[in-house]
Amino acid sequence: MTTPRPETLAKLTPVLTKRWLSPDAWQIGTYEKLDGYAALRKALKSHPDDLIQLVKDSGLRGRGGAGFPTGLKWGFIPQGDGKPHYLVVNADEGEPGTCKDLPLMTHDPHSLVEGVIIASYAIRANRAYIYIRGEAVHAARRLRNAVREAQAKGYLGRNILGSGFDLELVVHSGAGAYICGEETALLDSLEGFRGQPRLRPPFPATHGLYASPTVVNNVGTIASVPYIVLGGAAWWKTMGTEKSAGPMIYSLSGRVANPGQFECSLGVTLRELLELAGGMQPGHNLRFWTPGGSSTPLLTAEHLDVPLDFESVAAAGSILGTTATQIFSDQDCPVYATYRWLEFYHHESCGKCTPCREGNYWMVRVYRRILSGQGTHEDLDTLLDTCDNILGRSFCGLGDGATSSVTSSLQYFKQDYLDYIEGRTAPKLSDKQLVGAH
Ligand SMILES: Cc1cc2nc3c(=O)[nH]c(=O)nc-3n(C[C@H](O)[C@H](O)[C@H](O)COP(=O)(O)O)c2cc1C
Ligand code: SF4
Repeated sequence: MTTPRPETLAKLTPVLTKRWLSPDAWQIGTYEKLDGYAALRKALKSHPDDLIQLVKDSGLRGRGGAGFPTGLKWGFIPQGDGKPHYLVVNADEGEPGTCKDLPLMTHDPHSLVEGVIIASYAIRANRAYIYIRGEAVHAARRLRNAVREAQAKGYLGRNILGSGFDLELVVHSGAGAYICGEETALLDSLEGFRGQPRLRPPFPATHGLYASPTVVNNVGTIASVPYIVLGGAAWWKTMGTEKSAGPMIYSLSGRVANPGQFECSLGVTLRELLELAGGMQPGHNLRFWTPGGSSTPLLTAEHLDVPLDFESVAAAGSILGTTATQIFSDQDCPVYATYRWLEFYHHESCGKCTPCREGNYWMVRVYRRILSGQGTHEDLDTLLDTCDNILGRSFCGLGDGATSSVTSSLQYFKQDYLDYIEGRTAPKLSDKQLVGAH
C-alpha cells in the first residue's frame, strides 16, 4: 500500500464525515459537544424563505445522483396553499457500489435529523419521513434512537425550542427494492402501494406524498444543510467548482488497497482518490471504473485525471451519479462485470414498462450466450439495438441506467467481446448457466 503525499492528503475536506471517527458519535451528547444542533438554533431565528435563499446561494446540488439544485427544489413548494407539506429523505441507497448514506446514518445520524428539522422548517412541513432500505437494520436502529433522543431534548415534536414550529419525524423501513429509490416509486411505497414510478407531471413539488407538496432529497443533501447554515453559503462555495460546489463523499470499492469513503471537494480526480486509498491492490493495474455507480457509463485508465464534478464527468461521456467509484483491474473482465450488473437490473426492473422489462430480460440472455462461448457477431448489434430501444424510451431512470455499462463496455472493450465470440477467451459460464434460471 502506498502512502499518500501531503499535497494529496490536503485534498481531503472532512465536513459531513468529520465526526465519524469520534467515539459514540451517534449519541446526542457527543453530537452536541461537536457543534450539534447549533445550526438548528440559528435556523429557527431566520425566516424560512431566507433559509431557502441561503441554500440556493450555496449552490448545493442533490447528492442522490442527478445533481438537481436543492434550493430551487425547495422553492417549488407552493406556500400558503393550505395543504400539508412533506419532507421525504431518500435513504434507500440501492445503486450498486454506493455506500455513502449508510455510514453517515450509522456514525452521525443526528446530522441527518438536524438537517431534516431545518429543511422541514424552510419548506413549512410538519411531518417528515426518512425512507430507509429494509436491509439497513443497524442504521435504522441508530436513526430511530437519534429521533427519540432529539424528541427528549425538544428538538422534535411540538413547539421546537420555543419557536412555535412543530415537526414529527418518522423513520420508515422499506422492503429492499432498488426501484423504491426512484422518488415517485418511493412515495407510492411509503403510501403502502407497490413501489412503481408515477407518471410526471404532476411533480412531487405539487402532488407528492398523499397528493400534497413534497420535497424528496437524498441523505447527503439534507445532512449538508446544517453545515451550510452554520458556515454560510460563501464558505460552502470555497469547496468544489463554480457549478459543483461543496464537498462530496466518494466511495471507493473494488481493486483498491484501502477501500472506503473519502470526502473531498467536488472536482477531485480518480488519480488523487486512488492515492488517498493507498493505490491499487498489489499486482493490479486500473482498467475500467464507474464514476458514480453501475448506472453510469464506464470510464477507463485514460480518464484518471477527469475532475469528478457534475460537468467534467458529463464532458468525459459519463455521469457523476452517486460518486460510487468501483475500481476494476486488468484481471477483471468488462463483459462479465456488465453481465452481473444486467442481472441486477433485470431482477430489479419493476415491470411497469416494456423496454426495461423485456429489454433487460433479453440482454441477460445474450450475455449468457456470449459468456458461455456460443455468442455470435450479430449478438453485439442486438445488444446495441436493444439499448437503443431502452434508453430514452423507459418510464424511469432504471431502464436508462441499465444500458450504461453495455454501451460503454462495447465502446471501450469490444475486443473482449470478440475474444469470447471467436474462441480466444475460455467461456466463463457453463451450458447449464446458459439456460439459466428465470
Ligand atoms: C432506479 C433509481 C433508483 C434511485 N435510487 C436512489 C437512492 O437510493 N437514493 C437517492 O437519494 N436517490 C435515488 N434515486 C434518485 C431519486 O429519484 C431522486 O432524484 C433523489 O432522491 C433526489 O434527491 P436529491 O435531489 O437530494 O439528489 C434513484 C433514481 C432511480 C431512477
Ligand atoms: S424503466 Fe424499469 S423500473 Fe422503471 S418503470 Fe420501466 S420497468 Fe419499471
